[in-house]
Amino acid sequence: MAGYDLTPIDVPQVETKYRTIKTKIPVPESLPIFEALKTCEPQSMMGQPPVIWHKADDFTVYDKWGNRWIDWSSCVLLSNTGHGRREIKEALRKIIDQGLIASYVFVHEQRAELCGMLQSISPDPASYSVFLLSTGSEATENCIKLAKTYALEKHGPMKKYLVSFRNAFHGRTMGAQLAGGMDKLKTWIVDRDPTFVQVPFPDGYKNEDTSFDLFLSTLNEKGISPDEIAGVMTESYQGVGPDFLPVEYAQRLRDFCAERDIVTIFDEVQAGFGRTGKMFCFEHYGIKPDLIACGKGVSSSLPLAAVIGRTDIMGLYAPGSMTSTHSASPLPVAASIANLRVLIGENLAGRAAKMGDILLPELQRIQQKYPDRLGCMHGKGLVAGIQVVKPGAKTPDPDTALAINYACVRKGLLMFSPVGIGGECLKIAPPLTIAEDALRESIQVFEEAIDGEIGS
Ligand SMILES: Cc1ncc(COP(=O)(O)O)c(C=O)c1O
Repeated sequence: MAGYDLTPIDVPQVETKYRTIKTKIPVPESLPIFEALKTCEPQSMMGQPPVIWHKADDFTVYDKWGNRWIDWSSCVLLSNTGHGRREIKEALRKIIDQGLIASYVFVHEQRAELCGMLQSISPDPASYSVFLLSTGSEATENCIKLAKTYALEKHGPMKKYLVSFRNAFHGRTMGAQLAGGMDKLKTWIVDRDPTFVQVPFPDGYKNEDTSFDLFLSTLNEKGISPDEIAGVMTESYQGVGPDFLPVEYAQRLRDFCAERDIVTIFDEVQAGFGRTGKMFCFEHYGIKPDLIACGKGVSSSLPLAAVIGRTDIMGLYAPGSMTSTHSASPLPVAASIANLRVLIGENLAGRAAKMGDILLPELQRIQQKYPDRLGCMHGKGLVAGIQVVKPGAKTPDPDTALAINYACVRKGLLMFSPVGIGGECLKIAPPLTIAEDALRESIQVFEEAIDGEIGS
């Protein structure tokens, strides 16, 4: 797949209520910054559209050359309450002025407040606890460790498998990648831990068999007995789609695990905190996971992650033995408290559902316009994805996806680069605060970009 072309080109000027494009794109003056980075960081950090972020406010992003984009990225499904929320900035100023910017795991008052808030939105506050970390990968790693520890201590070493799903993404650290379901991301491990196994995800497009029987038969083929399974981990929706579990499948999975004392882990790092129209995406399935991995939208800003889980599982490690240097760091904690107050106080989950009722039918209409090239559209609330495919096939077409994505950027609509198994998925994830007229304007821009790239 080709990357973004860094040659500045003339593009039509744009000036609307929410978008301004007044320079060549990329901005010629921005190129030395990309050149400087090339000399001092790995190329892996490149790959996003060539826009130099200078300021981000609510649902718009600015560079310093006068351009302004409607944001469909939320960074990467991070800024659920909008960029640069006043309440978050004020909370940060307050804790800085108080004089506490680091504390290791020495206790500070706001840690208790945030853990209490997250506990109160858990499936059962009386029997769930909260462990604070910094990144989503740390949270999923911790869930794996807790599930395996629980199984070992309660049932012995035979109960050792961690079952997850093909095409899953749980982060880039080693355990998270072992549990991840994209082979190309973990070839570097060479000798993989055989207790990590993946089964097909019932997405209904890439895998048309959405029955739970496929879960059971795949394990059977791998020679794994249900009693040997320590935990099952899934993203609440798979980020590559977004692909959701059928409700019946999720419920059968939950029952299967409950009957065998298998720890069910739902990775809400991307799906949580209002994105899909509910606080947590697993609520759509009517189930209660044992462990929930959280990140991104929990703070909408500074690095904070959390595991929310059954107290009997969370309590397995002795004082001092399950911590991290930056657990409950005061600034991310203050940001997160302010963020949750906004999220709950403004019912942004409800807002995401309402805005999704505008976004999703429109995306469906656009997909139906080019069914040969836009393979399918999945979404819920304010997250959606369209798979760009080769004509009449399900084969990913990453080059066309990138061309559409770049066309959007040149028109003042910012998206992160295409995702998916082969880079074919145009993912749409504006802040949950996006104004209705901005949403409608951005859908129109998206359609124009698609018409321009694949329309006849
Ligand atoms: C579902 C899911 N889990 C885990 C992670 C890893 O989070 P982080 O990048 O904060 O380590 C991500 C990040 O995109 C994610 O989408």
